[in-house]
Amino acid sequence: MKSKSVRILLAMFLLWFSTLESKSQSDNVFTVKVNEIKATIQPTMWGIFFEDINLGADGGVYAELIKNRSFEFANPLMGWSEQKKDGGNGNLLVLNRNKTNESNPRYIHATVNSAKGAYGLTNEGFRGIGIKANKKYNFSILARQYKNSNLSINIELTSAKGEKIGSATILPKGELWEKYAVSFIATTTDPKAKLKIWLQGKGAVDMDMISLFPTDTWKQRPGGMRNDLVQLLADLKPGFLRFPGGCIVEGRELATRYQWKKTIGNINDRKLIVNRWNTEFRHKPTPDYYQTFGLGFFEYFQIAEDIGAEPLPILNCGMACQFNTAEVATINELDPYIQDALDLIEFANGSAQTKWGNLRTKLGHPAPFNLKLLGVGNEQWGPQYVERYTIFAKAIKTKYPNIKLINSVGPDPDGEKFNFLNDTLRKMKVDILDEHYYRSPNWFLQNTKRYDNYDRNGPKIFAGEYAAQSIATVSADNKNNWQCALSEAAFMTGLERNADVVTMASYAPLFAHAEGWQWTPDLIWFDNLNSYGTPNYYVQKLFSTNRGTYVVPILLNNASVTGQDSCYASASVDKKTNELILKIINTSGLERSREIVIDGDTNLNYTGIQTILKSEKLDDVNSFTEPAKIKPKDQQVKINDNKLSLLLAPYSFNVIRVKMKR
Ligand code: AHR
Repeated sequence: MKSKSVRILLAMFLLWFSTLESKSQSDNVFTVKVNEIKATIQPTMWGIFFEDINLGADGGVYAELIKNRSFEFANPLMGWSEQKKDGGNGNLLVLNRNKTNESNPRYIHATVNSAKGAYGLTNEGFRGIGIKANKKYNFSILARQYKNSNLSINIELTSAKGEKIGSATILPKGELWEKYAVSFIATTTDPKAKLKIWLQGKGAVDMDMISLFPTDTWKQRPGGMRNDLVQLLADLKPGFLRFPGGCIVEGRELATRYQWKKTIGNINDRKLIVNRWNTEFRHKPTPDYYQTFGLGFFEYFQIAEDIGAEPLPILNCGMACQFNTAEVATINELDPYIQDALDLIEFANGSAQTKWGNLRTKLGHPAPFNLKLLGVGNEQWGPQYVERYTIFAKAIKTKYPNIKLINSVGPDPDGEKFNFLNDTLRKMKVDILDEHYYRSPNWFLQNTKRYDNYDRNGPKIFAGEYAAQSIATVSADNKNNWQCALSEAAFMTGLERNADVVTMASYAPLFAHAEGWQWTPDLIWFDNLNSYGTPNYYVQKLFSTNRGTYVVPILLNNASVTGQDSCYASASVDKKTNELILKIINTSGLERSREIVIDGDTNLNYTGIQTILKSEKLDDVNSFTEPAKIKPKDQQVKINDNKLSLLLAPYSFNVIRVKMKR
């Protein structure tokens, strides 16, 4: 009797154990249906958002090393200081020729009273001047020398310790303004160098546009962009480049909105304005932050072309930032704003016979830039946006029916503002809605299914600005830590799975100067000499360089992998290379083993590559001292009989590429 019940108990246990085992087995199997095409992934899918925030342009990617080179900051001598040595003496006067030079009215008039010693001024650069040993630097200046003066302008680059690390001399000749240029090679590397301008002799000179550039700019363009920073962008192989923002498009008030026509042509004529981030955050005031527009719209189109990205300009729609003044242009004064949009399209695409196409040709680019996308307004909301957008859209679509327009749905991914615009604009059958989410890592994990039920026939979605916030939106303590990056990766599998609806996505903001930032987290951090990609950067890079042509299902028990057992996944096929690409994220602190069954391809028996991005701790970050702490590493994986056994490390993002036989 006793042994019978033991046998029954044993049988029951075996039955329970086998059910458990088969359940856990099926919970460990992901099936990829390589023949079921779910959506085409647009070449634009993974792109870049650029905004001049955090010294992104001036003091950042725009390689000018002199701050306030034209003395046009509100305080004309900000960044400059007077200097004397060996008994030299003189004085400086800020002069204004507003009537004859409206875009660059101020210049410096320097009088040197004694031929003894030297007198002049020093520029501190943007938190110092970053100089590299054995590299060549181009110095230039607009100058004129007064009658009976015999002044030489001696340029001296000095290290933070005050040693001379480069020098050159200029002898301004006549009484007419002229540009003088000279190059020299620096002897020492220093992130905090200074530029000294010594006037020697006696008399008076006028000086303006005092400039210093490295010669090793991106594509060696004189007066160009910082090579390391553009290279980091190029390495992303981005689908598009959004420019110039961001709130900077809107301005704190309409007068300081971004106006593209003021950013092209001769650099001396690009009138600077105060950067809206100069005063935005009390915790991070940046009084020396201005926009010189050295990175203007022509340079922007050029960079987009260089790095193979579709240009995506966002223009002001007659509304200033609604978080600031919330000024709006009256409807009967909207024309110049609309004309700017029409002219920009002509500047990008028009032939040399058109006014603006002709200007592009003269600037050195006869071929069109092939603009297809245009954003109308940044983070606008309310009926006043709909009213203005409607007028814009009519004018643009009438003249350029093929341009796809991008619409704001406000600053949040939900709530009243979002719902109003989302409903209204969908009814208007607009092209593309620009959704923004600066949310917690948890929000990103919980929203991987956000687009699963979006209307497949409605407007396309541009996930135009997003970043997981480790503490809270606009908190100065936010970090680009691994938890944020991992949650973004998980979320991005949801974007990819829904590539029929989501056609573009970009992390924001892009750049931050370690000593001049206002907003964190940011994709790429830099100082005056170095730069590094955050873990978030590598997440973006793994998605954009492993884009695939179309989405195929990767399923767990017939459902998408959206957090079951802390795993998230998407799959695509790259038609060009005939490869299957899997992206699998394990957000748990435990290793997971998964079997991948490749359904639909035959005789898969070879080796694939598993690229792993991982870190042991969720608060790990990259830094200047450990820029590659979190960086992708490759290993081989074996496929046997269409099956792939994968080990997913704790807290890891895995990209697997396998050649298909078909
Ligand atoms: O990315 C920083 C800011 O966040 C952008 O300028 C704005 O569009 C958003 O509010």
